[in-house]
Amino acid sequence: MACRCSPLLLPLLGWSALLLAPMLLVQFANAAIFVDDRGVQHTWDESTKARVAVRAGIGAVSLYHMGMREEQLAATWGLWGVRGSDFDPENPSQGSIYPEADPSPEEAAFLASAVNLSPSCWKNPRGCFQWDDTAEVLGMRDEIDFIVNIDNGSAEDSYNAAEEAGMNVIFIDTFYEYNENCRASNYSIIDTSFCYGRSMIDVAQRIEELAVFLGVEVDQNSLNQQKQAACDAAQAFTETMKDLHDKGIRVKVSIVDTELRDDTGVTTASVADFDPIELWVPRTLEELGMPLLHAASYENNEYGYIYSDEYFPDCTPGFVNDTCNGNTYFPVDFWLIDSRSFILIDDNFKLIFPDRAMLAGQYWSYPRNDGSISYVMIESLLNEYRTRLGSAVKLQDSTGTCTPADPKATAHLVADGTGGLGLNEFICYDEAAIQQEYLQCPTVAPVPPVSTPTSPTPPTANPPVPTSPNTSASSDAIMVSTITSIAAAAVTAFLMFCSTSG
Ligand SMILES: *[C@@H]1O[C@H](CO)[C@@H](O)[C@H](O)[C@H]1NC(C)=O
Ligand SMILES: *[C@@H]1O[C@H](CO)[C@@H](O)[C@H](O)[C@H]1NC(C)=O
Ligand SMILES: *[C@@H]1O[C@H](CO)[C@@H](O)[C@H](O)[C@H]1NC(C)=O
Ligand SMILES: *[C@@H]1O[C@H](CO)[C@@H](O)[C@H](O)[C@H]1NC(C)=O
Repeated sequence: MACRCSPLLLPLLGWSALLLAPMLLVQFANAAIFVDDRGVQHTWDESTKARVAVRAGIGAVSLYHMGMREEQLAATWGLWGVRGSDFDPENPSQGSIYPEADPSPEEAAFLASAVNLSPSCWKNPRGCFQWDDTAEVLGMRDEIDFIVNIDNGSAEDSYNAAEEAGMNVIFIDTFYEYNENCRASNYSIIDTSFCYGRSMIDVAQRIEELAVFLGVEVDQNSLNQQKQAACDAAQAFTETMKDLHDKGIRVKVSIVDTELRDDTGVTTASVADFDPIELWVPRTLEELGMPLLHAASYENNEYGYIYSDEYFPDCTPGFVNDTCNGNTYFPVDFWLIDSRSFILIDDNFKLIFPDRAMLAGQYWSYPRNDGSISYVMIESLLNEYRTRLGSAVKLQDSTGTCTPADPKATAHLVADGTGGLGLNEFICYDEAAIQQEYLQCPTVAPVPPVSTPTSPTPPTANPPVPTSPNTSASSDAIMVSTITSIAAAAVTAFLMFCSTSG
């Protein structure tokens, strides 16, 4: 942290700001510090635009939403759209099956301006998580100030190789809040009981702080508009979620699969059971009141797969059809299926998995560990799900009651599952427990210039938005602009004073 001054001090300083401000300015402008999510401290002159290499669809598009432009993007790797999408990076204006999650033509043009470090897989819809060749990345070291790793910490090897070769790697964790007892600086998890899951707004705020640190010209007015739109979407979404609870509707996030079984010789379907609280999209939805069914197993992020024979207990094994689909393993009225396996659901799938919600078309996709993470994406996904879920009807005979719990309480967020709910349990809607971070719209315009140079009292600099308390980047930016204003006012006043008295 470069320096943190209390705004309360500023009025007290009064005219002494005249002397102090230019000195502070020099300090601030040259030594911004960003502590990343492994506790590694990075230093940069945030008045200079850093050049970065970053995973395309997750990191680069998020930074674009915060205001980064072509001149700062040196290279990208990975997919541009989300896994499973038919988004074509070479023909972005054609759109895709997931317009709410894939890049727009403008975002694609931004990505196209940089070196593509993963030509082997950048169009493979199954996934592309790394650059092809670390030597190529090292060869670009003069053009890359920072490698930006915005991910769940799973692909540490290649990042470590670049870091060992002396490149700067900034890590933003899409899974956990930074805690020195959770993740080591080599990305390994130390103790999950210190790992607390992040939702989208937490990651978006970190990326905003990072953008400021990297010298991105953040347009506060445009960012405030993005935040306002996200906030409006969250408000409308949570109201719709309340209605879903009233209607008794339950939602399950899952992955579907089909498999030719050796034992029976027939193709069978399965659905995954996993804890929704670790993934940033489901966590966001739950924090805003979605009646999300929880899972049976929390062990080591293991996904249990439930086959159709087990899923429909009233059907004779091997004879699953819609005459016996009343009883199901999960009482789901609306499915959210990960974008990669979502495309498996067609009429053939519904024959071997005749679930009432599937048959009624009550399902949509969600990006699992995928897509950009920004105010723009929060707005886009919440609006999409609100519209699709708003018209859903209750289809299952389930009568189970909700569990009163706070979806944002530390005990619930802990990644070891100790605070999680059991199989098919879901949290009651409680307006007081809704995550307010999504609902606090920006109320303050950017700090206005000082208009009356004779006044020694600086304008009050309200923090524009809630930011996480332990990082310096964006609050320092506000502080810098405040101090700049004070300095300008003071210098003007001083000059006026000199000229009138001289
Ligand atoms: C973390 O993300 C990678 C892709 O970046 C994925 O392969 C892996 O399954 C994820 N880990 C978890 C626990 O979801
Ligand atoms: C990563 O760091 C932790 C804690 O410092 C250490 O226990 C672990 O062995 C390290 N893992 C690797 C692969 O170096
Ligand atoms: C439908 O399912 C029932 C129960 O499993 C089974 O008895 C029946 O034979 C099935 N019908 C067909 C056409 O497979
Ligand atoms: C953030 O700061 C607060 C107060 O100084 C402290 O209690 C907390 O542990 C810090 N969190 C992190 C992630 O450093």
